[in-house]
Amino acid sequence: MNKQFLVKRHLNQCVNVEKFVKPRQFLKHTGKTQLKPATLAVLVQCSVLIIVLAFFRSVHTIAAVSFSILDMVLMQALLAAIVSYFVGMARWWRWLHLSFPIAIWGMSDWQLPNEFYLAGFIISLSFFWTTFRSQVPFFPSRPVVWKQVAKLMPKDKPVRLIDIGSGLGGMPMYIAKIRPDSTIEGIEIAPLPWLVSFVRGQFCRSHAIFKLGDYRSLDFANYDVIFAYLSPAAMLVLWEKACQEMKSGSLLISLEFEIPGVSPNMRIVGNKHSPMLYVWRI
Ligand SMILES: C[S@@+](CC[C@H](N)C(=O)[O-])C[C@H]1O[C@@H](n2cnc3c(N)ncnc32)[C@H](O)[C@@H]1O
Repeated sequence: MNKQFLVKRHLNQCVNVEKFVKPRQFLKHTGKTQLKPATLAVLVQCSVLIIVLAFFRSVHTIAAVSFSILDMVLMQALLAAIVSYFVGMARWWRWLHLSFPIAIWGMSDWQLPNEFYLAGFIISLSFFWTTFRSQVPFFPSRPVVWKQVAKLMPKDKPVRLIDIGSGLGGMPMYIAKIRPDSTIEGIEIAPLPWLVSFVRGQFCRSHAIFKLGDYRSLDFANYDVIFAYLSPAAMLVLWEKACQEMKSGSLLISLEFEIPGVSPNMRIVGNKHSPMLYVWRI
């Protein structure tokens, strides 16, 4: 089978993905028409705030009853959590909605200097960066996973491997150590984790290369093994890119997240420290 045929066959598999996935679910995954969770969360809090203020103002005007700030905060928290349930946000968002107004209220009591909030904002921004849009947060994988990935790498020749979204760089540094013959890279979009990985690499004299950037701008044809620990929201688009660009025989490895409708060639069952690894041979 020549390469063109293989690419075509995999592209067909990409098209079939849409048949397996319900249309609404597909749109949700590609994120083209649905609101991002963070946007929805802001809308929920703002609309609930308007309702809460209107409610307390009307009760105060009609019944001349006064309420404390804490009453308003608690109503805001409860109502926002309830609304987030009805608009279909993930379960953990309910806890965020519940705790957010209470945390703001609590912190306003501590009278922390404004610089504290500015520093918190800058650190969060440089750590999470585009998580708002990409829906791929930072969450490190563990050494047990890195060992499994190392076992999957071809042994008979030097390999070019990349961790797309390399976080603090633990995985590429581990692989670089045990595979000095190979070219090991990591690419990370968020500046702070990238800086940490770069400094770690220099400090440990690792030959792993850490790039600051977006993996979507890479040419996947340059790699024999691509490791991804992303999120369900990223997987379909990743698969489309892999189908179009990856060389035949190369490996796409995903930790924890499957590609909807595309069976992997191999599943490596995890344990309580490591989720399932999915492997597709292109
Ligand atoms: C779940 S973490 C995985 C970290 C690392 N791969 C590991 O196994 O420890 C996902 C990382 O991908 C990064 N990321 C998200 N979208 C990205 C993109 N388009 N290009 C590069 N990195 C991205 C995030 O900033 C985050 O650090």
